[in-house]
Amino acid sequence: MQQQLEELGREARLQIENAASPEELKEIKVRFLGKKGELTAILRGLGTIPSEQRPAVGRQANDLRTLLEEVIEQREHALRDLSRSNQWEKERIDVTLPGRPVSMGQKHPLTLITDEIKEIFVGLGFQVAHGPDIETDYYNYEALNFPADHPARDMQDSFYLTEKYLLRTHTSPVQVRAMEKKAPRLPVRIIAPGKVFRRDDDATHSPMFHQIEGLAVDKDITFADLKGTLLTFVRQMFGPEQKIRLRPSFFPFTEPSAEVDILCVMCKGKGCRVCSDTGWLEILGAGMVHPHVLSVSGYDPREVTGFAFGMGVERIAMLKYGIGDLRHFFTNDLRFLKQFG
Ligand code: PHE
Repeated sequence: MQQQLEELGREARLQIENAASPEELKEIKVRFLGKKGELTAILRGLGTIPSEQRPAVGRQANDLRTLLEEVIEQREHALRDLSRSNQWEKERIDVTLPGRPVSMGQKHPLTLITDEIKEIFVGLGFQVAHGPDIETDYYNYEALNFPADHPARDMQDSFYLTEKYLLRTHTSPVQVRAMEKKAPRLPVRIIAPGKVFRRDDDATHSPMFHQIEGLAVDKDITFADLKGTLLTFVRQMFGPEQKIRLRPSFFPFTEPSAEVDILCVMCKGKGCRVCSDTGWLEILGAGMVHPHVLSVSGYDPREVTGFAFGMGVERIAMLKYGIGDLRHFFTNDLRFLKQFG
C-alpha cells in the first residue's frame, strides 16, 4: 500500500510539472484529487486494510494530498507568470521604430472660400448671422414679398416638407430674421452664409449648394453704397483690376434689382469660351431692400433704406479656382480636395 502511494505521488508530480496550460492542470487535479480521483479512492479504501497499518497509511495518504495541493498551486502560479510574459513579449513596443505620421485634414474648398468672403465683409463692418436650413413659407417667401401663387416662386423649385415648412431656397430669409432681431436699432450690417436647396441637378447646379447673403440697413443708404461695397469685395476676391457691371433684373424683395457681373476671370474681358464671348461673368444678385420687406421686419421704409445681395459660393469657388464641374465639391474625391488649402 505504501509503495502504491509513493508511485501515485511520483506519477502525479510528474504530470503536474509537465502541465502546459491551466486547463490541463485542472484535469490532472481532478484525476488525482477529485471525488473519483485516484488518491481519493485510496483514502476511501482505508477501511479494507488491516487496522494496525491504518494510521500510518492514512497519514501518508493525507500528507500526499497536502503535498499535491501545494505542487498544483505552485504550477498554477508558474503557468500564470508564463502566459503574462508571453503576452508582454507579443505586445512589446519597439521604441526605435520611426513614428507613423498623423495625416492632417484640411479645409474643404467651399469652407476656404466662405471664410475668405466672410473675412472681407467683416473687414467692412458686417457681422456674421445664421438662419435655419428648414424655413417656414413665411420667411422664405411671404415676408420677402413673394405672395402665394406669385410666378417668381417658380424661379426656385423647392423641397417642401409640409405645407408650411420647406428647405430654404436662398439665404434671403436671414435678412428678415436679422432685422426682426435688431429692429428698431440701426445700423443692420450682416453677412449670412449657409446651405440652400433647389430641385436642380447638373454640372452647374446641385440640389444643395451654398449662398452668402449680405444686408445693410441704415438711414440714407443708397445704390451707390451697394455698388461701392460690391466693387470693394470683388477687387479683394478676384484682384485689384476687377470691374463690375450691373444689369437690371427682378427680385420681389429688392427694388430696383440687378444682376452683377465681373470681368471674365479667364480672358479679363476680351471674350472667350468661358464667358461666351461677352467678357463678363454673372456672380450675384442684388438690389435695394423692398419697402415691404423693411416694414414686415420692423423698420419704417420712410426713414431707412438698405441694400441686399446674394451670391453662390460654389460659383465663386469655381471661378476663383478654375473648376469646371460643380459636382467635384460633393463627391469627396481626395485627389480633388487635397489641391486646396
Ligand atoms: N436670393 C436671391 C437668389 O437666391 C439673390 C438675392 C439676394 C437677390 C439678395 C437680391 C438680393 O437668387
